[in-house]
Amino acid sequence: MRRLRTQVGIVGAGPAGLTLAHLLHRAGIESVVLEDRTREYVEHRIRAGVLEHGTAELLRDAGVGERLDREGIVHHGISMQFDGERHRIPLSELTDGRAIVIYGQTEVVKDLIAVRLQLGLPLLFEVEGVTVRGFDEDAPVIAFRHEDEEHELSCDVIAGCDGFHGVCRPAIAAALRTFEREYPFAWLGILAEAPPSSEELVYTHHAHGFALLSLRSPHLSRLYLQCRPDEDLDEWPEKRIWKELQARTALEGWSLNTGPILEQGVTGMRSFVAEPMQRGRLFLAGDAAHIVPPTGAKGLNLAIADVAVLAHALDRWYRTGDESGLGSYSEICLRRVWRAEHFSYWMTTMLHRISDDPFDQKLQLSQLRWVTTSDAAARSLAENYVGLRIA
Ligand code: APR
Ligand code: PHB
Repeated sequence: MRRLRTQVGIVGAGPAGLTLAHLLHRAGIESVVLEDRTREYVEHRIRAGVLEHGTAELLRDAGVGERLDREGIVHHGISMQFDGERHRIPLSELTDGRAIVIYGQTEVVKDLIAVRLQLGLPLLFEVEGVTVRGFDEDAPVIAFRHEDEEHELSCDVIAGCDGFHGVCRPAIAAALRTFEREYPFAWLGILAEAPPSSEELVYTHHAHGFALLSLRSPHLSRLYLQCRPDEDLDEWPEKRIWKELQARTALEGWSLNTGPILEQGVTGMRSFVAEPMQRGRLFLAGDAAHIVPPTGAKGLNLAIADVAVLAHALDRWYRTGDESGLGSYSEICLRRVWRAEHFSYWMTTMLHRISDDPFDQKLQLSQLRWVTTSDAAARSLAENYVGLRIA
């Protein structure tokens, strides 16, 4: 058995865990990051790709914005398409110049891993059997196996950044109240070697179901189609995917660029919140505490906002002994979380085919028309989309 000690033990090397580790390092606080997957796996998992204004700023301020600024694509608007018309929402105009940056979550993760390893700071991949204990007695311990050896990591605080299927939330389940909504549909997502057909994102409402045009680079399109949660990918040969994307996004005088499909997968849709996001010396952050459906592009941004609050509270605690920031961690985070939960739910129910009832479709179309013609409604969408300021 190897015994180790650090200030903050972080479970999970997704955006939440890696960003937290980096912010703590900048504040002179030691941490150890434990990840159960391989580096290869974590760096190649395809996830969302929209950074809120504040998220991009935070990464820049933390010194990890160099490649983001070089390769990320700044967007000042998005479009909503319905009834065969495409309407642009000028995000920056409506939010005092704020914008979003298109940069894959995978790239954020790669940058954070690179900087951590370059600094020679502890980040262990392929750890097994992680368990957490002692957080109620001010003596947190994370036990795990690494390279066939049992380890115990004692720390001041445990950060549960281990995603929705991790071990930290279940460890405090008895103290949590959870809120959940499942949606009767999912997204079939593809990454295609094709130049983006639209410079900006297009969210499309169509009788067949939702479609989204997004991108990763000037050569890579990222496209999504609403499908069934149990959709069998074998029933979706490339030809059918393109045909359906074309049908849902069709517009006079515009055409969809196609190309070889490099990746495809089905993502379920769920809203979930666990309250509070802390117990004793254990703090949950990111997907470990909450999930949003991807329609508002909020998942990654919420994860980063959580750890910004946590890093700030830990810094204050270590510097001054003041625990108040840690005490109010959950309350501060949950305000933003519930705003994003509502926004994501609203975008999801406005844009997807939610039933066969024409009444629902009429309401959706009325809402979409309002959002794209009323300055007040467009501004409220824009404000939520570019994101609230990070506390
Ligand atoms: N031990 C160690 N690591 C674990 C364990 C465990 N028992 N369980 C899960 N993990 C790891 C996962 O392999 C993953 O790398 O924790 C990490 C959690 O990362 P994410 O799932 O990316 O979650 P988070 O960092 O909160 O980022 C949220 O990810 O799912 C997307 O849409 C979501 O964009 C959002 C973002
Ligand atoms: C993406 O590019 O992957 C993406 C963009 C916008 C969303 C969700 C996903 O709302």
